[in-house]
Amino acid sequence: MTDSSYIENKLKEQQVSAGLIRDALNWGRKETDPVLIDRIPKPAGVFYGKEIWEMCIAAILEGENILLSGPKASGKNVLADDLCALFGRPQWNASFHVNTDSSTLIGTDTFIDNEVKLRRGSVYECAVHGGFGVFDEINMAKNDALVVLHSALDYRKIIDVPGYEKISLDPLTRFIGTMNYDYAGTRELNEALVSRFMVVDIPPIGTDILMKILHDDFPDAKDKALEQFAGLFLDLQEKAEHSEISTKSVDLRGILAALRTIRRGLSPQAAVKIGVSGKTFDQYEKEIVEDVIRLRIPEDWTREEIFE
Ligand SMILES: Nc1ncnc2c1ncn2[C@@H]1O[C@H](COP(=O)(O)OP(=O)(O)OP(=O)(O)O)[C@@H](O)[C@H]1O
Ligand SMILES: [Mg+2]
Repeated sequence: MTDSSYIENKLKEQQVSAGLIRDALNWGRKETDPVLIDRIPKPAGVFYGKEIWEMCIAAILEGENILLSGPKASGKNVLADDLCALFGRPQWNASFHVNTDSSTLIGTDTFIDNEVKLRRGSVYECAVHGGFGVFDEINMAKNDALVVLHSALDYRKIIDVPGYEKISLDPLTRFIGTMNYDYAGTRELNEALVSRFMVVDIPPIGTDILMKILHDDFPDAKDKALEQFAGLFLDLQEKAEHSEISTKSVDLRGILAALRTIRRGLSPQAAVKIGVSGKTFDQYEKEIVEDVIRLRIPEDWTREEIFE
């Protein structure tokens, strides 16, 4: 099965609009260059969320860039990878942080064979190949890095940096920004930048989707046990929503990693310590989290209570 037909089946299961799925699969052009084929992500799992899928597919088909905003570990990068696989486009990644400037994105002058040549940055490569550029944590970007992107992100679809040749974007090029709404150090996103994206808000995860993810990742686990792990996550999420605890321990990644280490042979108590309660460093908060854990994961549980 090809990667796009894997995604196609998973989207049909979620009852994503058949017309949108069809248009996405028929869109663009097929890559033949092995280097570009290698850049099309092989989906490790599918993103769950019918409405979110429909918003993203429709926006991409209409030439828009999308900004995925949501809590940590809410599947933003899984979705970005799945979109590349569905549309069959190679992906380039750029992570934004205080040291990301326009030259990191577009390119830098370097000496090659005694000549000054431009070593192309990720946005340049993405633009000429009609790739999907994933901008991680775009809210951390400095203005210098953002301003060069404005003309690439709007109808002009060009990159025009003084001193470099002007680059026209391949019409298939799209940009997918991700941002996390509660990382420390984030700042309000610049209005001119947000204006150039369709903003897709990923809501906190609910029971149904959570159980699907757990079943997909742990087909060998017992249903009753997975329900307790899902319950643990949802209890913590609710406590954070009511400001009883911070969001530090509300981390799906930590729950999944805890389950993997249990399958490997670690005791459930030790696994949730490193995957869940260990993520908060405040003693008072840690005690609240440990109380929630005790109600969900009995202290005498062993691997056998969880896995077949
Ligand atoms: N709606 C969802 N559908 C499928 N998987 C999900 C979903 N939400 C979370 N996950 C799971 O959560 C984990 C983290 O996903 P991912 O790395 O894409 O999150 P993220 O939103 O990019 O997080 P961060 O903001 O911390 O970078 C993955 O293992 C993924 O399978
Ligand atoms: Mg991410």
